Amino acid sequence: MNQFDTHLIYVDEELTPSMSTGEYKDYLDGLKAEKLFSGKAGEVYALRFTGRDALKNVIFVGIGKEDDWACGEKISNAFGSGIGKARALKAGRVLVLMDDRLSAESTAKAIEAMHLAKYSFKKYKTGKDEDKKDLTISISSPLEIKEMVEEAVLLADQTCVARDLVNEPANVITPAALGDFAQREGARCGFKVEVYDMAAIEALGMEAFLAVGKGSGQEPRLIVMSYEGNPGGETIALVGKGLTYDSGGYSLKPSAGMANMKTDMGGGAAVIGAVGAIAKAGLKANVVGIIAACENLISGHSYKPGDIIGSMGGKYIEVDNTDAEGRLTLIDAVTYAINVKQADKVIDIATLTGAAIIALGTGITAALCNNEELWEAIDKAACAATEKIWRMPCDEELGKGLKSEIADLKNTGGRSGGMITGGLFVGEFVGNTPWAHLDIAGPSFTEKAKPTCCIGGTGVGVRTLYHTVKNLSQ
Ligand code: BES
Ligand code: MN
Ligand code: ZN
Repeated sequence: MNQFDTHLIYVDEELTPSMSTGEYKDYLDGLKAEKLFSGKAGEVYALRFTGRDALKNVIFVGIGKEDDWACGEKISNAFGSGIGKARALKAGRVLVLMDDRLSAESTAKAIEAMHLAKYSFKKYKTGKDEDKKDLTISISSPLEIKEMVEEAVLLADQTCVARDLVNEPANVITPAALGDFAQREGARCGFKVEVYDMAAIEALGMEAFLAVGKGSGQEPRLIVMSYEGNPGGETIALVGKGLTYDSGGYSLKPSAGMANMKTDMGGGAAVIGAVGAIAKAGLKANVVGIIAACENLISGHSYKPGDIIGSMGGKYIEVDNTDAEGRLTLIDAVTYAINVKQADKVIDIATLTGAAIIALGTGITAALCNNEELWEAIDKAACAATEKIWRMPCDEELGKGLKSEIADLKNTGGRSGGMITGGLFVGEFVGNTPWAHLDIAGPSFTEKAKPTCCIGGTGVGVRTLYHTVKNLSQ
């Protein structure tokens, strides 16, 4: 055990330490007597040794009681905070001492959380290699749960693939660069990737998607990722919004609103991460991931408020607001999924509306769904993923706000219910296909460090999409 500079010990409210040794028990009794540590969920206490021994830190993590770990949030946060402490103490190698007091599920959840917590985005920080070194986490557990552990680590890694993409700036992640990245991920994880350029997108008749990208010097790309793990079975389409930058266009955003708009491809990033996880895990399912990637900018070529544009689905759309661009890209991607890829179910995921943030805050995904079976799979999946989701109603009355005087539809609804009208606009293009819409404008990015995520892209959606496909494949 000497190669580990840190031991991470979890402790319940009875102060029973994992892999209990007399030594740690004594320390804990002392901490309890001095009321420094009680084992409640989320408590962290570190002992720092200054001797020449390899072991420099012992970190105690409180986990509370198993009965209130709904959807794994408390256990995730507890173990995430433990890793946060290890990082603050500049630990290099942590040994986590697990025992069989935790169920297999909770052990896997803790491992997922610790791998999420060790992530940071240091690519553009020059400085000492030492500071950039990754923390190594080793687990000692008596449980025979190799497959569950592998899945937990895979899901954490794939979440971090999406985080990286969101954290990269828009001058690096252009639509073409996103296509190249997807291609590399396909080779690494085992899925097929096709990337269509401007001419090919025109040939497909994706007029709404093209209108959004027209003002940019960066050409759009249609990115299509296919994984066939169940030949002959149904196909699930995962459609991710891929605005590599959203200035708002001529309906220009104020400066403050533009600050984080490099993150407007968070839905697309989640799809790339999820398809990779699905392929690597070899799920018995057929999945097609679709991203209509472009930039929403201003130039003499841009689309304008008042323009009337066509769409691959054939409907004409009056552009009421060029900042409601995501839905214009999504409808052509969804039409492509259904008409060309014959998708049996469609899930779109998008940083679509500020209204979703007003409604549910920054921690919860706002959803719409037209099918109960699909919703059940998604709701369960979000819980398995420890991601929060809330379903909003597909209200017809609100949908009427999308009617246009001069065209089939306009791209904004009324003054209120913006999350719902934004989603319903996409819903106008799915027909009777079971469909869900996940608005991740809030949770795709965090301005505050959390136990399992540093400031920046969160990779939200990767795990929920993975578990949804897994649920549907059983
Ligand atoms: N990308 C934005 C939504 C967004 C806002 C994401 C804040 C993340 C944080 C989207 O394209 C947008 O601008 N939506 C408009 C729609 C409106 C014009 C109907 C919005 O929410 O203001
Ligand atoms: Mn916008
Ligand atoms: Zn946008």
